[in-house]
This record gives sequence, structure tokens and C-alpha cells, in this order.
Amino acid sequence: MTTTEQTPAARRVGEAPDPALLDPVERIGVDELRALQLERLRWSLRHAYENVPHYRRAFDAAGVHPDDCRELADLARFPTTSKGDLRENYPFGMFAVPQDRVRRVHASSGTTGTPTVVGYTERDLDTWASVMARSIRAAGGRPGDRLHNAYGYGLFTGGLGAHYGAERLGCTVIPVSGGMTPRQVQLIRDFEPRIIMVTPSYMLTVLDEFEKQGLDPRASSLEIGIFGAEPWTEEMRREMEERAGIHAVDVYGLSEVIGPGVAQECVETKDGLHVWEDHFYPEVIDPITGEVLPDGEEGELALTSLTKAAMPVVRYRTRDLTRLLPGSARPAFRRMRKITGRTDDMIILRGVNLFPTQIEEIVLRTPGLSPHFALELVTRGRMDHLVCRVEARPDSPADGRAAAAAVVAQGVKDTVGTSIEVLVVDPETLPRSVGKLQRFADHRERA
Ligand code: DLL
Repeated sequence: MTTTEQTPAARRVGEAPDPALLDPVERIGVDELRALQLERLRWSLRHAYENVPHYRRAFDAAGVHPDDCRELADLARFPTTSKGDLRENYPFGMFAVPQDRVRRVHASSGTTGTPTVVGYTERDLDTWASVMARSIRAAGGRPGDRLHNAYGYGLFTGGLGAHYGAERLGCTVIPVSGGMTPRQVQLIRDFEPRIIMVTPSYMLTVLDEFEKQGLDPRASSLEIGIFGAEPWTEEMRREMEERAGIHAVDVYGLSEVIGPGVAQECVETKDGLHVWEDHFYPEVIDPITGEVLPDGEEGELALTSLTKAAMPVVRYRTRDLTRLLPGSARPAFRRMRKITGRTDDMIILRGVNLFPTQIEEIVLRTPGLSPHFALELVTRGRMDHLVCRVEARPDSPADGRAAAAAVVAQGVKDTVGTSIEVLVVDPETLPRSVGKLQRFADHRERA
């Protein structure tokens, strides 16, 4: 797996907030944080065990009891929880409080099967707003800023999660949601927001729309973009920072754990995402054996909620691949490296593992190519082939396309070690999304 080092351009950094503006907990020391986590973890395990039949069964089957958690490392003795467990308990079976204490539900559709449903008490919603407000501030947002929220509103946690966090920080929210791209551009021009929150793939569509209307996005009021809900690379950061004249920072979260605001990159360092560990305890585990890996090693992120009442999660397997690093801008809070991909996004091509982010890095380094690409796995003869279609940049000469395609194919061969077919296609011919982009389609013939 590649780990692109950050380039000086990608590290163009923003201004840190005045420390007096931080939540007091953001400034605590590691020892104090660990003590707080242990106390909260013991509560959370007990709460899950006593109120959710699934956890009682799973802990009993593993021969562990909440009282066995005497130090944080003891968490490794408890069973992990998967998306399948949530699906089996659809819709409300994982809730730990009576329904009249649940103020809101969200659901994640996933690409297949039963959705997973999550719930929040009033206090959970308050926690969510506060971690999200903390995240927007870490990204460079300040009370009084206008914030254009283009994450989708509805069952998806992006829209409402960002919305209440921004209000909590004291921003003026413009609740646009996703879609109607020409109107997004018009509202940015007319309302002059300083911050935009949107998926990185939809931000590209919005930037294309600016240019289509003959406008320079760099001249807009936007100074900060808070991008998440799907993987994006350092190359994409540079693309968006240069094209839009903004600071691009990463926000991470998932509905099962709370929504956006689980971890956030600080604008003054742009060096990975601080996990808000006072509410969410991270572990990185070996995706195959489930064993806990030491900090610094790459594996699957598992998260345990420490304070959530309506739907506690114990060692929830996110399927997201990352590694834990020491704190930087918030010294006590470990960072997670930008996510390389999900275990389920991994393409296995003739025995070699490949992630769409690896292709994104190469495409964006190749002159003449836009960041819009799509991957399709097909069968020809008895062999699987990966076809990568990439749009040319509108201003690039047509006779350079074959050479650009060859550069990408060679780059993939050199870094991943496998051959793929690259086709450079006309601008505006590949599908766009208004939220999370599905870049990959599997059209192999099944035997
Ligand atoms: O995507 C929550 C969210 C909304 C996060 C807005 C950030 C911004 P789900 O729909 O449950 O929740 O999807 C969660 O999205 O497990 C990751 O695979 C992926 N994901 C979320 N943030 C990032 C990120 C929201 N910053 C799933 N980088 C997660 C890479 C991300 N992947």
C-alpha cells in the first residue's frame, strides 16, 4: 500500500485557534485523558451489557464481563462488533435506552442489503454537536463564519451532523444539502460563505461548475473546505487547494459511531486526523486475525463509544484502513492517518491488491488529466481486466491523451505491480455524484 509523503504544497497550513477558544478537554494531558477514558469505557461496557441483548450474549460467549475491564488494554479481550451484527438487530435491536429517550434516528444505506439504523438521546445529540463544533474549529472555522453545508440532509449523518456542529460553534449555516450544482455556485457567490462542507468528489463537481460559468473559484469568498465521507488523497488536497484557493482539511466519521466529527484534521498541521478520544476509543486491528496492532502499524480501525447512551458500540469494525500516530496540534489526542481505503473497496486483480486511492494519486500527478476517473473490472477471455477511464482536462490538447494514458498505466505497474487498461475520455462524460462517489463497478462474468 502506498503512503504518499506530504509535499510542501500540500502542507500549506492555516492559522491555529487561540488556545482559549478550545474545549478545556482539548488541552488536557495524556495521563488525564487515559484516566477519563478508562472511567468512561467501564461505564460504556456495563451500559451495553446491561441493556443490549446482543452485547450480553456476545460478552458471555467470549467469557468476559464488564468488570474484567481494569485497564484500557483489557478492551482487547472483548468481542468486536460488525455491520452484520447491526443488520441482524435491524431496526432498533442495538438500542440501549427505551424508545421515548431516543430523539432521532439516522440510517446508512450501504450499497447492498438492509440499512443500519442508529439512534441518539438528547445528550448524544449534544455530544455530537460539540465534537462537530470542535472539528470545525480545528479546521479553522470561527464563530460568526458563514458555512455552506452541501452534505446531504436526511438519513445520512453528513448534513445534520455538520449543521448542528456549525450552529454550536456559532456559525451561520447555509443548509443547501447536495445537488442542483448551478445553484450551489450561485449561493456561494451571493452569500459569500467562508467555509464549505461537502464530499471531496462533489466539491470537484462544484468547482467544474464555477469554471463552466466562466468564474474563477479562487476569487470566491471560500477559505476553508472540510471534506470527508469518502477517501481522498494528498494529491486531491493539492488539486482542491490550488483550484479553489482554500485550505482543504479532512473530517472523518461514521453513522454507527455517531456521524461526522469522530476525528478531524487541524488546519495548522494537516497531518492526519485527531480522534476525539474523550468520546471514541480507537484501536487498529489486524483485519484477518483481529489482533490489536501497536500504534503506527496499518490495519483496520475499530472504535468504541465511551459516552453514547442510545446506541453504544463496542469495538466496532469500521473496515477503514489507517494507522494511529501520536498527537500533534492536540498533543493528547492520537491522530489517524488519512484513510487509504476500506477493506471492501479493495480490488483484487490477478492476485494483487489495489485501492482506488492509489489510482487517484497517479492520475492527479499526470499532466492533462482531470481528477474524474472510474474503474471497471471486466472479464476478457479467462482473464480479469481493470479498465480505468479518466477524463481529460478541458484545456488539454487531444493529441496528448495516449501519452497520458500510458503514464498512468506505467505508474500503476510501477507502484502496484499489475497492468491495467487506461482510457482517456472527453471531459464531462463520466458520472458525477452529489454525495459519496462510487468509482468502482465489478462487471466480471461469474462462472
Ligand atoms: O460518511 C459520516 C460523514 C459525513 C463523515 C460527512 C464525514 C463527513 P457513513 O455514511 O456511515 O457516515 O459512512 C462512513 O465513510 O466508514 C468511511 O469508509 C467513509 N469515510 C467517512 N469519512 C471519511 C474520510 C459518514 N474522511 C464511512 N476519509 C466510513 C475516508 C471516510 N473515508
